[in-house]
Amino acid sequence: MPEVKALSGIEILDSRGRPTVKAYCTLASGVVAQASVPSGASTGAAEAVELRDQESRYRGLGCRKAVANLNEIINDCVSGCDFPSQAGFDAALIALDGTQNKSRLGANAILAASLAFARASALEANEPLYQHFSRMLPGDMQIPRPTINLFSGGKHAGAQVEIQDVLIMPQSPDDLDSSLAMFAEIYACAAELCAERYDMRLLRADEGGLAPPASSAESLIELALAAIDHAGLRAGTDVVLAVDVASSHFFDGESYHLGGRRLSPEEMIQRLVRWVNSYPIVSIEDGLAEDDWQHWPRLRETLGHRALILGDDLLCTNPARIRKAVETQAANALLLKVNQIGTLTEAAEAVRLARVAGWRIVASARSGETEDDWLADLAVGWGADQIKIGSITQSERLSKYNRLLEITAAVGWPLARP
Ligand code: PGA
Ligand code: ZN
Repeated sequence: MPEVKALSGIEILDSRGRPTVKAYCTLASGVVAQASVPSGASTGAAEAVELRDQESRYRGLGCRKAVANLNEIINDCVSGCDFPSQAGFDAALIALDGTQNKSRLGANAILAASLAFARASALEANEPLYQHFSRMLPGDMQIPRPTINLFSGGKHAGAQVEIQDVLIMPQSPDDLDSSLAMFAEIYACAAELCAERYDMRLLRADEGGLAPPASSAESLIELALAAIDHAGLRAGTDVVLAVDVASSHFFDGESYHLGGRRLSPEEMIQRLVRWVNSYPIVSIEDGLAEDDWQHWPRLRETLGHRALILGDDLLCTNPARIRKAVETQAANALLLKVNQIGTLTEAAEAVRLARVAGWRIVASARSGETEDDWLADLAVGWGADQIKIGSITQSERLSKYNRLLEITAAVGWPLARP
């Protein structure tokens, strides 16, 4: 039974050079583990609150208060205590915070503690982290199929086009290694096409994807298809597409502002239908806005048999929002971002609810990441169907892909089915 000796934290910088939180958990046995938390830019309104210092330092984004909460309030509460399970540890943090959205201690402080404790417990039990995670949420483990960022727009790339991601999902390979190699060729071809068509230097967006100045979402998607073709691959067979529309960011409460037009929710759905009819798109994330609850069921009814209707901002990995979405048939897949809810236990409950409803699970990194690789273990341990990390550039993304390669080498499993 892990007894916590001490919890502490420091402020570190994420992949955008913004402060975030790293925690250290020391157990009475002498085991020490660390964990760092990511941070989004295209955040949902219902996400748990990251505590930021709101001072001029780092334009208000400092995390010194969150770190002080770890070193003082959280450390005082948990040190010297035995926690037989992650659920017990997380419950203590949730009670200590006492708010609905973790705004007192900060979801960044709380999640860092939750993850560091999990890693320390795994070390103490002498088991790989993915196995430890799977004990928390029993079910089949699997290597998730990667959906890899090729092009970025929206909040990750200066909004040259409204939609946030065009992603490639290798479909024919049944192993991770071939999938990554296949993507690498598409990425190289896309970079060459960007240079040719836009005479552009290789600028990368927050998640390592290319950010060409395309004139519309459709032209970005068509550029992806051209890159697939140049790579000698067949779209729809070898690889398929996914899009993160991130439409909360161009919805004004009434209309969707897309491609210079104002679309009603029904017209927005028809636009998505057109895309699925014209392109090999198998997953639509946030096709409608986070507060457009009224129209999500219609989107699922219209396209749910042909594509994942994937909720990110809509669901915020929040069990209460997932229950509502299951009841109203608003989606058929959960984007799992642990820092949207702030503890492993609550995120596990989110996954459990989604699974019971028969949904697919897509584990996701954030646009602001660290070199920590726990997401790979979490996705495997919780049996996620897909994983969305970003492109295969930049070490904060590659640490997760490389950890997935390492886990694959250890277990020898194929990829989850497409
Ligand atoms: P975020 O973006 O981390 O900036 O929220 C990722 C996503 O929207 O999926
Ligand atoms: Zn998203």
